[in-house]
Amino acid sequence: MKLRRIIKWTLGLIVLALAAFFCVAYWTSTNDCDRYSATPSNPMKAIVYCDYGLPNLKLQEIEKPVPNDDQILVRVRAASVNPYDWHFIEGTPYIMRFLGVGLRKPKDTRLGVDFAGTVEAIGKNVTQFKPGDEVFGGRGGAFAEYVCPRASRAVALKPANLTFEQAASVNIAGITALQALRDKGNVQPGQKVLINGASGGVGTFAVQIAKSFGADVTGVCSARNVELVRSLGADQVIDYTKEDFAKGERRYDIILDNVPNHSLSECRRILNPNGKYVMIGGGGPNESRWVGPFGRVISAMVLSPFISQKMGMMMADTSQKDLGVLADLMQSGKVKPVIDRTYKLSEVPEAIRYLEEGHARGKVIITLE
Ligand SMILES: NC(=O)c1ccc[n+]([C@@H]2O[C@H](COP(=O)([O-])OP(=O)(O)OC[C@H]3O[C@@H](n4cnc5c(N)ncnc54)[C@H](OP(=O)(O)O)[C@@H]3O)[C@@H](O)[C@H]2O)c1
Repeated sequence: MKLRRIIKWTLGLIVLALAAFFCVAYWTSTNDCDRYSATPSNPMKAIVYCDYGLPNLKLQEIEKPVPNDDQILVRVRAASVNPYDWHFIEGTPYIMRFLGVGLRKPKDTRLGVDFAGTVEAIGKNVTQFKPGDEVFGGRGGAFAEYVCPRASRAVALKPANLTFEQAASVNIAGITALQALRDKGNVQPGQKVLINGASGGVGTFAVQIAKSFGADVTGVCSARNVELVRSLGADQVIDYTKEDFAKGERRYDIILDNVPNHSLSECRRILNPNGKYVMIGGGGPNESRWVGPFGRVISAMVLSPFISQKMGMMMADTSQKDLGVLADLMQSGKVKPVIDRTYKLSEVPEAIRYLEEGHARGKVIITLE
């Protein structure tokens, strides 16, 4: 009896302590927005947000960054918008907030990742780049006139046959498609690959990359995008408004799922016995607001030991090496970025709103003067 009471009280106290800790952490959660109130001595324009939510995005003058010894200063000519950005803008899935993104307010108040631009200055340890080089890649805070990526990280020389807009579209979407197909899917020539969400940012790269690996590609999109996906090289295109790919007779070696709108068992049904299901997409900004795609990821992990097929999620890891692989594919004409709309830096909120609708055709671009 006594032991039971001690356990009850101990558990009660732990819950109370956790609740108190959460309340204090929530209300003390803050960010560096205060420093934006000072007039910058060397200003540049950038998109900043001090609180979660699209209406809180502002175009503001902030201090222009100075490269350290290992960084390069890039004048951004174009950036691109990704669902990744709206996860940070909305702070969803909420689990992200507990994992360091900021409980009540975003810790990092800068937005954007993908960029293309011109090198203006280099740190003293940098040997790979020189002022005047045209580059592309990924660096936090890319919705701005300047960024300072580390020279050894996700930045590479822009292929001469690409515009800045095209090059800015590559980093997240291109690398995700490449790593999903090559590393997770291990796509081999002749294999049957299904790409669900073939007309979006990741999908348009994935169709072309899978074709460059010699795969037989089936793309899934709506009626208005059928011709686009076919023109990218897809051997078959399924219009999801007329036909459900999960109910078809065709079997696939790899499913790359940008739109997880079918259950795992439905996807399994159309996978060959040794097929691979590679989940990329986590749904829209208002779906599963607490845990996002993680529930489905756990289901796939639980299922995996009992089935012959491989099922799991892939998180892209941007790198200079893979930007180089994509640059070669684009230089040779095997992959060509698809641009949907372009917006100005001041119109980033409109660009994000458009992307949030979930029907972008290829990539949405931000252009800078
Ligand atoms: N795991 C990672 O590392 C990683 C990296 C990048 C992106 N992602 C995730 O991957 C997903 C896709 O990213 P994205 O950049 O390609 O997004 P996106 O550009 O917004 O993709 C939109 C595309 O989805 C298509 N779509 C919408 N409903 C569909 C349906 N029912 N069936 C088939 N296609 C449908 C749309 O085609 P229609 O207009 O024809 O409907 C549109 O072309 C997002 O959830 C994103 O968060 C994950």
